[in-house]
Amino acid sequence: MICLENVSRTYGEGAASVHAIRDVTASIEAGAFVTIVGASGSGKSTLLNLIGTLDRPTSGRILLDGVEIFNLNDRERTLLRREKIGFVFQFFNLLPTLTALENVALPAKLMGKSAKETSRRAWELLDRVGLSQRAEHKPDQMSGGEMQRVAIARALMMDPPVILADEPTGNLDSAIGRVIIELLRGAVDAKRTVVLVTHDLKLAEQGDRILTIEDGRLARQEAGKNRSSEVGP
Ligand SMILES: Nc1ncnc2c1ncn2[C@@H]1O[C@H](COP(=O)(O)OP(=O)(O)OP(=O)(O)O)[C@@H](O)[C@H]1O
Ligand SMILES: [Mg+2]
Repeated sequence: MICLENVSRTYGEGAASVHAIRDVTASIEAGAFVTIVGASGSGKSTLLNLIGTLDRPTSGRILLDGVEIFNLNDRERTLLRREKIGFVFQFFNLLPTLTALENVALPAKLMGKSAKETSRRAWELLDRVGLSQRAEHKPDQMSGGEMQRVAIARALMMDPPVILADEPTGNLDSAIGRVIIELLRGAVDAKRTVVLVTHDLKLAEQGDRILTIEDGRLARQEAGKNRSSEVGP
């Protein structure tokens, strides 16, 4: 369970300051599929980075399973992030010197998992995103959509309880986009929590719950069209 309490994030100071996130209060239950939708510049990536502990609120609190994450020291927070969160970045953040396979395997390597099991799972995930043919390619030898898919496989590598995905289908055609959504849905079915950022309303409707961000504020929260995890009409 992720709780945001009156979270704001302001970049810069004085006249040049940007209020990227303003006083957002929301909770994301464990096992939910939540989508965040909004125009370009509305604050979606900022909000996801805050949830993912990569950025710090200017004011307000963020709790992950009851723990206020910015009360932890840097090391504790890094460990928590590695254990609990899989991140698909808007601009992939793949390591340029590693191959696709090595990028996917990296989270497991950082956590000291066995080489054999790591390699097996990395191959399996590359296969699921349709990239086993590109395993030995480095990021500069791949297309944007291929890098995107490697980033998604990497986020799933540790089977984390929370998956945060920033425009994960942004560079993909609709067929591969559907595969990605199915992968994320599969994670939700396996009781993982998924937060998906998109500017695409149709895609946002795939979520159980849609949070609409306008100019840094949480403007609306509504049920998606494919509500699967809630009961009743
Ligand atoms: N490091 C930064 N310094 C200053 N301003 C920033 C910084 N990062 C983001 N911003 C500003 O904060 C606002 C929100 O940015 P953010 O990246 O969260 O938007 P977004 O909704 O993800 O947009 P997009 O759909 O284009 O990815 C924008 O006005 C942006 O210019
Ligand atoms: Mg963004």
